[in-house]
Amino acid sequence: MRLKVFLSALLLAAAPAVAATGEPAPFKAAGLSIGSSWYPEQWPEARWEVDLALMERAQLNVVRIGEFAWARMEPADGQFDFAWLDRAIAAAARHKIRVVLGTPTAGPPIWLTEAHPDVLRVNEDGSVEGHGERRQFSFASATYRGYARRIAAEMARRYGRNPNVVGWQIDNEIGVPSFDGEVRTLWASWLAKRYGSIDALNRRWTTEYWSQRYQRFDQIPLKSKGPQNPALILDYHRFVSSVWADYVGEQAVAIRAHADPRQFVTTNSTAWNNNFDQYLVHRDLDIAAWDDYVPGGRPDWVANALHHDLVRGYKRRNFWVMEAQPGRVDWAPVNRSLDPGQVRELAWQMVAHGGDAILYWQWRSALNGQEQYHGTVVGPDGMPMPIYDEIAKTAAEFASAAPLLAGTSPYARIAMLYSQESRWAVDQEKHSRDYDPVATMQDWYRPVAASGRTIDILPGNADLAGYALVVAPLLNIVDNATAERLTSYVRGGGHLVLGPRSGMKDDDNALWTQRQPGPLAALLGARVENYYPIDAGVIVAGASITGSAKTWAEVLKPTANDVEILATYSDGPWLAGKPAIVSRRVGKGRITYVGAIFDSAGQRAITDFMLASVRAGAPPLPPADGVEAVERKGPGGRYLIVINHAGEPAQLQLPAGARRVVGDLDAGTLPAHGVALLSLPVH
Ligand code: GAL
Repeated sequence: MRLKVFLSALLLAAAPAVAATGEPAPFKAAGLSIGSSWYPEQWPEARWEVDLALMERAQLNVVRIGEFAWARMEPADGQFDFAWLDRAIAAAARHKIRVVLGTPTAGPPIWLTEAHPDVLRVNEDGSVEGHGERRQFSFASATYRGYARRIAAEMARRYGRNPNVVGWQIDNEIGVPSFDGEVRTLWASWLAKRYGSIDALNRRWTTEYWSQRYQRFDQIPLKSKGPQNPALILDYHRFVSSVWADYVGEQAVAIRAHADPRQFVTTNSTAWNNNFDQYLVHRDLDIAAWDDYVPGGRPDWVANALHHDLVRGYKRRNFWVMEAQPGRVDWAPVNRSLDPGQVRELAWQMVAHGGDAILYWQWRSALNGQEQYHGTVVGPDGMPMPIYDEIAKTAAEFASAAPLLAGTSPYARIAMLYSQESRWAVDQEKHSRDYDPVATMQDWYRPVAASGRTIDILPGNADLAGYALVVAPLLNIVDNATAERLTSYVRGGGHLVLGPRSGMKDDDNALWTQRQPGPLAALLGARVENYYPIDAGVIVAGASITGSAKTWAEVLKPTANDVEILATYSDGPWLAGKPAIVSRRVGKGRITYVGAIFDSAGQRAITDFMLASVRAGAPPLPPADGVEAVERKGPGGRYLIVINHAGEPAQLQLPAGARRVVGDLDAGTLPAHGVALLSLPVH
């Protein structure tokens, strides 16, 4: 049916709100979901049927509802109105659209903050947030958390067994901390619990420095950044992480008390959020989810791949993309739209990296919401925007692929460690303006990804069994337990590669007395003599690794006689002739230390050296510029997702026995921004 005819038939037939009659039939667990955020509370009910029919027509099968609808769900303290939400969920079910329910705690109603002004968030400068924006609450407020638990529990009591509700999103993009009195009290008790006595804290923090010595825990300032004691700053971040983990955990408990275990519980996180430790916050959640935006509209596919892998590592399982742009955002300096084909390309990239769902933000702009210029799937007139057809095409492909991909995941033989604590430690004392922990992760990931290998990104305390190669680009903090785990990984036959600044600090953010890499120096049989921020490139050369050091250069000094020097600095007053990269065989394993930040040529050479040690794990396709190929496998089979991120067609050499299931592949050619799902023979 032509769209106009379809829409006018719908508009004529659009029944006013249909009351919920009985439970909708359960949907079969889908391997892939696609849909959007939908805000039924912002629209007359008569419109819902039209929106849902348009979604169904595009084969969208999931909506996220409710995450900003607290004022509607609880119009006055303790008075709940869920009738509209019953009808919205039932209406979605009639269109075969499943629901993720958001707890609405990112947007408290005015009656709550008016009655309890002490729940309002206080900024570090002492200013207090108010109504009309969002996230104006204090994450530590017992009063607020009581209200938050209650609304989450009420929702779960009502929808925890609803077969059309597949999962829960707690809050929305948590992360903004508060500096109110209640937080300060919690901070003091958190410190007391961690240190036991103020003497222990004074000792571990070296508070003799600048006469910092404290007498009581409640004297310790709550500060998010320096200049402050490095231990204080690291503990501040740990404390904030633990408050957020409890905030999320409490809502998870409130939901699970009533919810069917079939419903997952998650929260939507943001890219490289530096406000808390994701691994800790995900402690009580079933799956991870993130909001994948490309603000400037020009995707860096490797950076995006890395972030997918990072999120997959939060729970070491498949994840959801809870928000993605249907074209453009409204919060970048220039809100450029993705090119035609790139919304689909990015959806398939998510699948390649273990994503099982993508939801576009948002379906339609609220007429007077603060985000009027954001990309949407339908326009202010309620009619499809140009992106609608591309999303519909993607959804049709997801429908064909879903049964095949159900139960499959990416599989990696290479792990890259991400230490949030090390990032905070380096952020506090960068020592060079250009030292950027996230860019460092990207620099190390980029050539490995370009070689076609799949990578798991894991926290420093992860179980590393089964990985042929473990890369730690920035492990500034290494505690004794981590050192022991890494040592046994190497002794067990693995290859550990450490980047610059590794093993400099202990668990208290204090300097290790062995110099870098601290408790791993004996295993390495070498140590860092000194480190030098540099403001010009320095050539580093060796038998197989040559490149240019930039930003940071460390001079390494062997202390054992079986240490191999892989590359030395060619010039520089303190550097010329000194080792920049060393490596040592330990039994069947190996440890390598890279003492500089390298340009891309150097990083590629280091990657070749690292990959030579990974016997298994050859890439499924010969690497080609801009082409990504990731395998997902499971009991049901092996599948290869191939994506051409480049602006030109790519000619592929497919693996033997590969068969196209979905996508654009034609006689081995994948067009610009083309995607293909191939099945691979099982061996
Ligand atoms: C996200 C947020 C959404 C919406 C979106 C716009 O950060 O969760 O509610 O504001 O950005 O890009």
